[in-house]
Amino acid sequence: MIQRSVIKGFSKFSKEQKIDTIASFLTSSDEVKTIIKSFWHSDPSVQTLFDEFSENTLTNYFMPYGIAPNVNINGYMYMVPMVIEESSVIAAASKSAKFWAPNGGFKSEVISTTKVGQVHFIWHGDIARLRENFSILTQILLERSSSITANMEKRGGGVVGMEIIDKTHELEGYYQLEVKFETVDSMGANFINSCLEEYATGLKSFVNESGLFEETGLIVIMSILSNYTPECLVKTWVECDISAFENIDENLSAEEFAWKFEKAVQIATVDVFRATTHNKGIFNGIDAVILATGNDFRAVEACGHAFASRSGKYRSLTEVEVSDNTFRYSLTMPLAIGTVGGLTSLHPMAKLSLAILGNPTARELMQIASTIGLANNFGALKSLTTKGIQVGHMKMHLYNILNVFGATEAEKKSAVEYFKKRKVTYNAVQQFVEALRSASLQ
Ligand code: MEV
Repeated sequence: MIQRSVIKGFSKFSKEQKIDTIASFLTSSDEVKTIIKSFWHSDPSVQTLFDEFSENTLTNYFMPYGIAPNVNINGYMYMVPMVIEESSVIAAASKSAKFWAPNGGFKSEVISTTKVGQVHFIWHGDIARLRENFSILTQILLERSSSITANMEKRGGGVVGMEIIDKTHELEGYYQLEVKFETVDSMGANFINSCLEEYATGLKSFVNESGLFEETGLIVIMSILSNYTPECLVKTWVECDISAFENIDENLSAEEFAWKFEKAVQIATVDVFRATTHNKGIFNGIDAVILATGNDFRAVEACGHAFASRSGKYRSLTEVEVSDNTFRYSLTMPLAIGTVGGLTSLHPMAKLSLAILGNPTARELMQIASTIGLANNFGALKSLTTKGIQVGHMKMHLYNILNVFGATEAEKKSAVEYFKKRKVTYNAVQQFVEALRSASLQ
């Protein structure tokens, strides 16, 4: 469908009008309208809630919601909700969890929880004088934001630092007011941005109107949180005697498996092409938990990839060390997420996910999400270094292929049986379904 002219006032249309407009562009418009409406929630009040999450909503877009059970983190067992459309991801996380539960489980530690926001400004004045007056400025700014920060302070958070950063060596006249925040159990984006906008106004008037500076003309370019949060960090790891891998693969000894696994992580540390896929596999798990709990997966992804490049080269987020018959394997990464506020307290399924997880704090959710990331990376590397991922992946994908051919429940049952010992390919499944159907016609 190509829109050939500008539609004026689309956002003002009623939902029905929006649907009619979209359907009118398509050939089978009645069918389109039926499909769109078939995904509406049966309870109108729930549908209104979803409509209002974003804009120009026509309907809902379903994603599978599943559970990875047996996830042992710091001695507690979790059943972790995951939202993901890709086959094999939940199975891989579950299999890894099942392997590690009796082998010491996952250990996880939150290293820090500081978030960052910046007021970006251009000024050609006396920065030394601004620094001399910085404690007065800080007080003025904190006072300006006191009505916003009061509640956060009651919960143990607030502003934890402020600094002027000189970036003039990179861009003429460019400075930042860098502000650090503790946002406790909330992701804190709205809180941080509201504070920053107050600080921007306060900074501008302090420099341009206080009479303290000869050179006024400070221009605020923008005020926004940074999604790069290298000081909001969690480390998750597993450790076992190599002998735990004794039966992990029929063709590899425990030592051979550990050696191949170590090489796989080292390859993702030196090669950016491999590192990207390796980290994508980690985010398969992390994003699925982030989505299930109503957090912002774009922020988490952007931050994780920036962190993976912190050495100047994009590298694996996981690390492994095999020595003295011990296998040590870890994931350290930033995760700025929340368990209160935003979608976490609005989306009924996000609320349910948090309930299934025992209503964790943000720190606990950081541990849970990173554990699933490590579990998925372990599962991917285990498959890749042994029998390859396609055997398992295609087995899981079998249902998707069968659905493409509109297979009935009985056909699916026969296909699952038939492909237990055979290689699943698109063509093989097509041939199988066709043969089954022509046999039933005879
Ligand atoms: C597929 O979604 C993810 C993997 O490609 C990850 C990896 O290669 O490590 C299996």
